[in-house]
Amino acid sequence: MSDLSIPCEYRPGLENIPAAQSSISYVDGKKGILEYRGIPIGELAANSTFLETTYLLIWGQLPTLQELTAFEDEIRPHRRLKYQVRDMMKCFPETGHAMDALQTSAAALGLFYARRALDDPDYIRQAVVRLVAKIPTMVAAFHQMRKGNDPISPKDNLDYGANFLYMLTERQPHPLAARIFDICLTLHAEHTMNTSTFSSIITASTLTDPYAVIASAVGTLAGPLHGGATEEVLEVLSEIGSVKNVRPYVEKCIEKEEKIPGFGHRIYKIKDPRATILQKLAEQLFEQTSYDPDYDIALELEKVVTEKLGHKGVYANVDFYSGLVYRKLGIPSELFAPVFAMARVAGWLAHWKEQLAVNRIFRPTQVYTGDHDLSYVPLEQRVS
Ligand code: ACO
Repeated sequence: MSDLSIPCEYRPGLENIPAAQSSISYVDGKKGILEYRGIPIGELAANSTFLETTYLLIWGQLPTLQELTAFEDEIRPHRRLKYQVRDMMKCFPETGHAMDALQTSAAALGLFYARRALDDPDYIRQAVVRLVAKIPTMVAAFHQMRKGNDPISPKDNLDYGANFLYMLTERQPHPLAARIFDICLTLHAEHTMNTSTFSSIITASTLTDPYAVIASAVGTLAGPLHGGATEEVLEVLSEIGSVKNVRPYVEKCIEKEEKIPGFGHRIYKIKDPRATILQKLAEQLFEQTSYDPDYDIALELEKVVTEKLGHKGVYANVDFYSGLVYRKLGIPSELFAPVFAMARVAGWLAHWKEQLAVNRIFRPTQVYTGDHDLSYVPLEQRVS
């Protein structure tokens, strides 16, 4: 037991303060290294699939062929939603944000699957399977329903990523598009103690159900400083409009002390390794389909930001190129954050499982800055 009488230094944003011990992923922000369970992200992006990576993150080692096949076979039928879940989602306002719809639907799964047995490995596996399987279906279903369409049922013969793209468009994606999307999911699957993961372990530490854990993480991811940035990057590229406007735009942001979406990271002080991989994927997609003129603006933006803000360690982050990739894959911008959540559910669940194994409820302290011993002023004596 630590000595609670020793005061700790208060650091806003808990910068550099460890919140947990974890063997799930590792980041070296100065060298630009990201590893899941010790395997470099580049290796996984090149060789693994999202579901295999999910297994690795949650159960700690790469599955054998038999284990992977069993996991994939378990996921497939669970992609369907109960009709009551679909009916509930039909009542969501079509103008609402897709992240709010996802957070609500994820939490609602706790109502439909109410059994809670956190010390039972079968229960853990079942919860993992349900959440990994159903989140893409819920994202696609809300997208269809808000347009007035019936949700498109999942197709059992399609792989995880391909099935999601199919449920969005009702078209079977090109194999390259499906593979690139799967890599995007792998790249976003886990990232040490980021804000939404922190939120997930705090919620997990109360021993609530896994659906509440994932719902709280989705709500945290929704903010523009975290998962909402991808959507904003495309808005910025369109606002800039042409390569010649990039420099004045950056100079204006610096003068007004405005953050440029898609740049900067609490941990990475050089270019995010995932941004490098995503940039290559974007180029691959342009070759296979058609060029995106916003890519020229993005390249210039990265160049100018690096020149002007590189000395502060501000470089392109994972969100900078992912929007261009997603747009080419036919994913609308309001789904960028939900797609991020679809991927990150793997990391959140891995941290949930890890937290349960060593659980102690989170109860930090605070530095009180208010008054003491004030008198109560009756309502009629108060002046504004
Ligand atoms: N544009 C311009 N300047 C920036 C940016 C940026 N995007 N990011 C950081 N800076 C500057 C800050 O103004 C600050 O300058 P100062 O020292 O002169 O005051 C310095 O770099 C350090 O920045 P902090 O805000 O202290 O960095 P912090 O670690 O707190 O924030 C964050 C990281 C929130 C990601 C920030 O860089 C940001 O808001 N970026 C834009 C939003 C974004 O892309 N978010 C996605 C992050 S990746 C993810 O969550 C998956």
